[in-house]
Amino acid sequence: MRKLLSSAGHEVIDAGDGIEGVRLACAIKPDLVLVDLNIPGLNGFEVTLRLRGEASLGRVPIVAITAEGDRDTSLAVGCTGFIQKPIEARTFANLIARYLRGAREMPSSADLEEKMLREQSQRIVGHLELKIAELSSANARLRELSLARTEFYRNISHELATPMTPIVGYLKLLVDEDLGPVTKGQHKALVAMDGCVKRLRAVLDNLLDVTGLETGRLRFALREYDFLDTTRRAIASVADRFAERNQTLVEELPRGPLPGYGDPDRLQRAMVHVLENAAKFTPEHGTVGVRVTRTASAYELCVADSGGGIAVGDFDRIFEPFIQVDGSVTREQGGVGVGLAIVRRTCRGLGGDVRIESPSSQVIEGVPLSGAAFTIRVAIRAPMELDG
Ligand SMILES: Nc1ncnc2c1ncn2[C@@H]1O[C@H](COP(=O)(O)OP(=O)(O)O)[C@@H](O)[C@H]1O
Ligand SMILES: [Mg+2]
Repeated sequence: MRKLLSSAGHEVIDAGDGIEGVRLACAIKPDLVLVDLNIPGLNGFEVTLRLRGEASLGRVPIVAITAEGDRDTSLAVGCTGFIQKPIEARTFANLIARYLRGAREMPSSADLEEKMLREQSQRIVGHLELKIAELSSANARLRELSLARTEFYRNISHELATPMTPIVGYLKLLVDEDLGPVTKGQHKALVAMDGCVKRLRAVLDNLLDVTGLETGRLRFALREYDFLDTTRRAIASVADRFAERNQTLVEELPRGPLPGYGDPDRLQRAMVHVLENAAKFTPEHGTVGVRVTRTASAYELCVADSGGGIAVGDFDRIFEPFIQVDGSVTREQGGVGVGLAIVRRTCRGLGGDVRIESPSSQVIEGVPLSGAAFTIRVAIRAPMELDG
C-alpha cells in the first residue's frame, strides 16, 4: 500500500498500532486516514470512533481496509468508505484518489446503522472490561513486587549491619593494642582497614536510610545542637573530595552559635549528600560555594556549584530514590541515586524542605556560581515527630 501510494505522489506515514495511529493523526492532521481493522491495541473501529470525536480532524476521510462483512459496521462508526481485502494494485491508488476528492459510501439503512453501532458499543465495552481486568492484575503484581523489594532492603541492610559491629569492635581493640602490641606495619594495615570499614558503614547507613524511606519509618533522634557546628563538620568530611578534584570551596558562614533542636546526625548526612553531589557533578578546577543563613524560624544551608546544572524537567525526578540524570557521570564518580531522596525526607522530617535552583543565580564570596544550587532548610526547632 505504501509503495502504491508513494508512487501515486502521496506522502505515507505509518503507525505501528491503533494508539500510535490516533496520536499521529491528531499531530499530523493528514489528508486521509487508512485504517486496517485488525490491529493491536485499539482496533480499526475503535480508532475510527476516536478520530471522529476529534474536532480538529474535521471530516478527514477515514478509509477502512476490511475483510468481507465489515462494511456496515465500518460506515456506522464513521468511516468514509472501505476497501475490500485483498488490495488490488491496479485500482488502489484510484480508489484513494476518489475518497480524497470527497466520495463517501452510504450506509444501507438507518436501522442497520443503528444496530451495528449498538453491537460495536457492546464489543468495545467487552474489550474495555478485559483490559481493565488485565491492568488491575498487573497493578496488583507490581504492588506485590514493590513490597518484596522493600522487604529485601530491610533484610539485606540488617544482614550486612549485623557482622559490621564486631568488625568495628575488634578493629578498635587491635588499634588500641588491647590484644597485644602491634608493629608499625600492622598498625598501618589496621588504619587502612578502618578506612574501608568507614566507607562500608556509610554505604550501609544509606541503605538503612533508603529502607526507612521506603517503609516510611525514618526515626529522628531529636536533641539540642548547633547548626553551624554541624555544617562545619559536614564540610570537613568532604574536604578531601574537593581537594582530589582540585576544586575551590568558598564559604559565607555567619558568626555562631546557631543553636537549634533537631537531629544533627541525620542533618549532617543530608548536608554531606548535597556537598558530595556538588563535588561529583562539578568538573575539576570548578568552584563550590556554601552559605548559611538564618530566617525567623529556620536555618538554611545553600550549596551552589559552577558545574553543568540540572534541566528544569529533571527537578522532581532527581529526588526519587535511584533516579540519576546521567548514569555515566555517576558511574565514574560512584553513587546509587539515593542521596537526594534521603535529603528531602530528612529536611521534611526536620520541619523544612530542600529546594533547587538551576541555573543558579547565587554569588558566594563574590564568585558567581551558575550551576546547580541546593538549599537545605530545617526548622530551628524541629517539630515533635508524629509518625516517622
Ligand atoms: N550539583 C549537581 N549538579 C548536577 N546534577 C546533580 C547535582 N546534584 C545532583 N544531581 C543529579 O541528581 C541525581 C541524583 O542525585 P543523588 O540522589 O545524590 O544520587 P547520586 O549522587 O548517587 O547520583 C544525580 O545522579 C545527578 O544527575
Ligand atoms: Mg549523591
